[in-house]
Amino acid sequence: MLVIDFGAQYAQLIARRVREANVYSEIIPHTASVADIVARKPAAIVLSGGPQSVYADGAPQVDPALFDAGIPVFGICYGFQAMARALGGDVAKTGLSEFGRTVITVDEPGRLLADVPACFNAWMSHGDSVHAAPAGFTALAATGGAPVAAFENTGRKLAGVQWHPEVLHSEYGQRVLSTFLHEIAGIGSAWKTSAIAEEAIARVREQVGDKRVLCGLSGGVDSAVAAAIVQRAIGDQLTCVFVDHGLLRKGEAEAVERDFVAATGAKLVVADAKDQFLGHLAGVTDPETKRKIIGREFIRVFEEQARALDSEADIEFLVQGTLYPDVVESGGGEGAATIKSHHNVGGLPDDLAFTLIEPLRTLFKDEVRQVGLELGLPEAMIWRQPFPGPGLGIRIIGEVTQERLDILREADAIAREELTKAGLDRDIWQFPVVLLGNVRSVGVQGDGRTYGHPVVLRPVTSEDAMTADWGRLPYDVLERISTRITNEVREINRVVVDITSKPPGTIEWE
Ligand code: XMP
Repeated sequence: MLVIDFGAQYAQLIARRVREANVYSEIIPHTASVADIVARKPAAIVLSGGPQSVYADGAPQVDPALFDAGIPVFGICYGFQAMARALGGDVAKTGLSEFGRTVITVDEPGRLLADVPACFNAWMSHGDSVHAAPAGFTALAATGGAPVAAFENTGRKLAGVQWHPEVLHSEYGQRVLSTFLHEIAGIGSAWKTSAIAEEAIARVREQVGDKRVLCGLSGGVDSAVAAAIVQRAIGDQLTCVFVDHGLLRKGEAEAVERDFVAATGAKLVVADAKDQFLGHLAGVTDPETKRKIIGREFIRVFEEQARALDSEADIEFLVQGTLYPDVVESGGGEGAATIKSHHNVGGLPDDLAFTLIEPLRTLFKDEVRQVGLELGLPEAMIWRQPFPGPGLGIRIIGEVTQERLDILREADAIAREELTKAGLDRDIWQFPVVLLGNVRSVGVQGDGRTYGHPVVLRPVTSEDAMTADWGRLPYDVLERISTRITNEVREINRVVVDITSKPPGTIEWE
């Protein structure tokens, strides 16, 4: 199924919801011609919302020929209005805009609204509205500001709604989308996680043939799942490289070395570069300099490993864990990949020119996680919080030393453990623990005076890390974390909580 993007905030969300209805979906820009669209043989099309008025100069329109191609079409918000206009309906400015929660009143359920109540709340965001449905269409529902808020022509498999069924706040949104896809467009439910994994494995097998492949593992979910798919496809032709820079959290390097290999049987080379990284970080306190050093050394070590493996046996491909949102955001071009420079593979020199394999290129993060579970990867790896490439190196304020890393690793492990025990892993986006290496404060423990370091707890909620709010952890969870850290971690005698949103703060402290 194709989502035609009219500049919607929600195009990706629509595509995800369609997949949740077990139908594979992709997004294309509204500039695609009808011939291009038809050539891709979609089972159905969704016209997305968009920021403009259909009457604005240069507003994107729908070519009426699209509706004669025999492809089922569903219009949402702007797409609904553009559809109404192209088919000869009446779209007008009412002077009344509706934003946010709006009551939908169903006048005539037809097929599209047959399974929803006569009255429900949905999320709206529109200025213009449809006053008369196109000839041959049945008007199904209305709101205070939209005389026609939904219509359908089941014979032609065309329908649309003024509201946003894809957003969580719209009641029965998924049901309406499902009804269109399965009942009106008549599409089956073949897109399942097991099918995704099998398809991805088959595709890699075909692409690689008997050639050799390299994959950089970071410990994160994307590279782990990408590697697991490739491993299933071609077995020993794959070599994974894991650069241990010594800046990972407690248990993570071991999880990659032991659990990942146990779960997948992948051939893994571990480059123990802890001393090299620590050596280069000695005496460095500036955050950006730390980042540059870590990034540079990462490439160096990875490049050394790649070169050694390449001279042993010609390597032709490099695995990259690019996800579908990256593809869409970087223009969505097919074929030639726009490479997002991940710290672990970006910037390889020209004489190490590999062809990219991107087995996750069509997937959303939640699908990647499902595929990972399907392939038997450990839950802890699949549900790992996002973790920055420079790792604990940018969570120690001041110089990064072995001793400070050991202290922070212990404190961080306690915080994560207590969060998990409280069942809050899925509520908290990220939970950095930051060691204030250059700050000491006086404390008293036992009968003695201490002069230790503080750590900062930084739980945040977020959807995309662009903005964030501080996570309201229950007091008893905070108390357990604080007590355990000060009891169990030598050198830490004070625990504080960061209650700054982003903006103005960033998630990380450096
Ligand atoms: P900030 O601190 O800018 O972080 O609010 C936003 C998100 O990005 C992660 N982050 C990084 N990830 N290399 C990375 O791979 C980096 O240098 C880096 N700095 C921040 C951070 O953990 C959060 O998820």
